[in-house]
Amino acid sequence: MRRQTRLVGSTLLRIDRLGSTNDLLRSLARQGAAEGTVVVAREQTAGRGRMGRSWASPPGGLWLSVLLRPPRPADLRLALVAAVGTAEGVRRASGAPVGLKWPNDLVLQERKVGGVLVEAAPPWAVVGIGVNVNVERALLPPDVRERAVCLAEVVGHTVDLDAVLEGVLAGVDDAYDALRRGRGEEVLDRWRRLSVTLGRPARVRTGGRLIEGIAVDIDATGALLIAGSAGAPVRVLTGDVTLL
Ligand code: BTN
Repeated sequence: MRRQTRLVGSTLLRIDRLGSTNDLLRSLARQGAAEGTVVVAREQTAGRGRMGRSWASPPGGLWLSVLLRPPRPADLRLALVAAVGTAEGVRRASGAPVGLKWPNDLVLQERKVGGVLVEAAPPWAVVGIGVNVNVERALLPPDVRERAVCLAEVVGHTVDLDAVLEGVLAGVDDAYDALRRGRGEEVLDRWRRLSVTLGRPARVRTGGRLIEGIAVDIDATGALLIAGSAGAPVRVLTGDVTLL
């Protein structure tokens, strides 16, 4: 049965321009913000991506953070849960067949359309979500421009940003609710169905190592399993995946 009330977005703060929604939400958490609080910005001046990278966040994109209080704030599955909810929400709102590259890149036509950055700040987890909805690619830094895509480009018209926000909030709420109720395996199965990674040859850069093989599956913790030519698959907990 569908729940009547929603946790994610129960309090929603809209900001015009700020450094990073993750930073603002982290300080709001220290000041007593409730679980489910969301900060959305029209523009970020110091957006952060995974692995210490910066994240270009000009107007036209969806830049938001969600405050969660999970039993284990550093649970790797949170990143996959957020990615599933975001991808499902974006698909519903725009019709674009967004897929997922492990752990939480949103991809369209083999290019990156969005990403998720989970920062654990026990007892909190700050889940940052960025989607290039109507971002002009010319506004992105030259090094990411070629590997990025925006939703509007793919669907052929400007996409209603509020409709995508609503879809993403509902999607993340639903996926997180399933995790909290002990149905994490169900969400991981949804991740598998959205995956563009599984079954493909991949190269992973992780902790100074380079691993190559077939990305065969994810395990119950959300780790990626890479099978080489011999031995048991290698379990990858963090890193950057290149599909070969
Ligand atoms: C990635 O590297 O793929 C993750 C990108 C996450 C970007 C979002 S935009 C909203 C939130 N605030 C940030 O500073 N980063 C995340």
